[in-house]
Amino acid sequence: NHNHNHNHHFRHADSNASPPSSAVAKISHLKAVVLGDAPASEEDDVVLPSHDFSRQALVPSQQKYLEMYKASIENPAGFWSGIASSEFYWKQRWGDQVYSENLDVRRGNIKIEWFKGGITNVCYNCLDRNIDAGLADKIALYWESNEPGFDATLTYSQLLQRVCQLANYLKSVGVRKGDAVVVYLPMLMELPITMLACARIGAVHSVVFAGFSSESLAQRIVDCKPKVVITCNAVKRGPKTVFLKDIVDAALIDSANKGISVDVCLTYENQLALKREKTKWKEGRDIWWEDVVPKYPTSCDVEWVDAEDPLFLLYTSGSTGKPKGVLHTTGGYMVYTATTFKYAFDYKDSDVYWCTADCGWITGHSYVTYGPMLNGATVLLYEGAPSYPDPGRCWDIVDKYKVTIFYTAPTLVRSLMRDGDEYVTRYSRKSLRVLGSVGEPINPSAWRWFFNVVGGSRCPISDTWWQTETGGFMITPLPGAWPQKPGSATFPFFGVQPVIVDEKGVELDGECSGYLCVKSSWPGAFRTLYGDHERYETTYFKPFPGYYFTGDGCSRDKDGYHWLTGRVDDVINVSGHRIGTAEVESALVSHPQCAEAAVVGVEHQVKGQGIYAFVTPVEGISYSEELRKSLILTVRTQIGAFAAPDKIHWAPALPKTRSGKIMRRILRKIAARQLDELGDTSTLADPGVVDQLIKLADT
Ligand code: WTA
Repeated sequence: NHNHNHNHHFRHADSNASPPSSAVAKISHLKAVVLGDAPASEEDDVVLPSHDFSRQALVPSQQKYLEMYKASIENPAGFWSGIASSEFYWKQRWGDQVYSENLDVRRGNIKIEWFKGGITNVCYNCLDRNIDAGLADKIALYWESNEPGFDATLTYSQLLQRVCQLANYLKSVGVRKGDAVVVYLPMLMELPITMLACARIGAVHSVVFAGFSSESLAQRIVDCKPKVVITCNAVKRGPKTVFLKDIVDAALIDSANKGISVDVCLTYENQLALKREKTKWKEGRDIWWEDVVPKYPTSCDVEWVDAEDPLFLLYTSGSTGKPKGVLHTTGGYMVYTATTFKYAFDYKDSDVYWCTADCGWITGHSYVTYGPMLNGATVLLYEGAPSYPDPGRCWDIVDKYKVTIFYTAPTLVRSLMRDGDEYVTRYSRKSLRVLGSVGEPINPSAWRWFFNVVGGSRCPISDTWWQTETGGFMITPLPGAWPQKPGSATFPFFGVQPVIVDEKGVELDGECSGYLCVKSSWPGAFRTLYGDHERYETTYFKPFPGYYFTGDGCSRDKDGYHWLTGRVDDVINVSGHRIGTAEVESALVSHPQCAEAAVVGVEHQVKGQGIYAFVTPVEGISYSEELRKSLILTVRTQIGAFAAPDKIHWAPALPKTRSGKIMRRILRKIAARQLDELGDTSTLADPGVVDQLIKLADT
């Protein structure tokens, strides 16, 4: 059931069309602006890379990109094994086959394997290998606290020591290769330290974003049954203190009630937020990080693992209520995140890199921790809220650390844009050279503001399209290589074959619009959904047999540029956070006074999409402000504050077909107030419902 949000005009591919046709585009536009020349204005169709930038870029031209892209598609095994063997350490080389795959459900089970038989370790490649190459004293991590004035640094060798101490501690409490460790930490240095320590001993980390509620955390604990949970007592976000340990306590009670008890809760004392004396404590289970971890040796043998051994689990939202445990393995993920990071940001050794994403999401996994560290980059971690104490904080941080690559989400760009240029222009920002965007389509006006005001019309923007499932960038500009079009993610990364299909799964060519799929595998692809390979196949490979289905709509223009148009399934994207409408609905209906609920996404000025909920209270309960608040609270406690509905729309009944199916198409139109586009309502069991809903729209 893929819902169409807009009318698509399909043009079919002729059967002889060569696969990378999208990449052999010619720029037909005449109007263009060169980076550094002048601000990009509304009429500029394309922004050309400047000579100065291109000259120093890793991929300096379209020709070079096309050459490399062609090589990667014609001979994926050769392309990726060349990179894997020259840029990484392998204890033992992979077997005869670089990769093997079956992406076609009609030919049996879906299987993707890269570098199988190769023996390596991602932590070793991030730390030991870079230290051996001379980076021991290079800054690995800069940490900036929520409170201006508090910061810290770790060099690569110091980071390795910290990682080893934690790895040794984890081994001492019985964590072995293949065991899960659940991590519920904010953006402290201890978060990447924990990820790397798990990787070092072959344990599988499952990082849960520290904005999820205790119930969501419990659900994830029950699913992967960790030996240890790692958290901290509290964190400051802007002016607020969040008591994370209390949330973990509740989650551990909840999961114990469901039969999963956790022996060890390792808790970091985040002194800037809360002293240990004030932290609730369970003797025997809870252990202060600072009391044990520093006592362990600063070196720790590496657990050598197979390229196809799991590296981590990360839960994400789908169309049904239960979150999916996306599983990534070791070798392919390592090679893919490092390579995409390097090319998409035109990485140089002297760069100072800042990604504003939290490690609790995939962006933080691939592009705060693994991708940059594999490249030996200097990474900035920021603990706090981006507009605290004022909307200039980001640029204050950029100037303080001389950040060169700044990677963020459109929602932050839009919110800073609203706050006014003066917060930006009072800072120098002259260190910046590359900007990045991720999480949702970036609208052209936000793109131009980011480009002109933040980047001073000097810095290319890498608008990276990808997903938790893809592990790394899939469609992205390579700075310096391509003319950019504001709002377009441009062209596929090396080795990626995106295709746009119609609803029958027929590939479209040329200028077209439809469902975005991917043909054949890439090293960073997820291998399964934890404990549910069937759901993996059903969700991603059955809708369009022969392809990986992304869940996104996409159009391609006459120059071959890709324009992502948003999700076509029941997933909404709020401030770049993926939320399943079904998850919010099931939270709402668990409220004793809620009979029925239907949730849709609606356009939102800052968040991209907002959460719009239609709610029918149980018989005899009247609409009230109190009920509205209590419904929203229920969603906050069951999922997390970021999933709280923006609007509750009272519904005497929901529009349903005669067979009882909710007609979401109509609800989306009502939510968007596109009342003249409701379409045919005659198939509804009770067409009168629509008028009732319209009457209640603004109550
Ligand atoms: C959306 C985040 C347009 C898309 C890395 C995708 C984007 C979902 C972009 C994945 C982009 C991400 N342009 N849309 N540059 N990046 N998306 O799993 O709908 O949290 O399917 O991964 O975000 O969200 P996820």
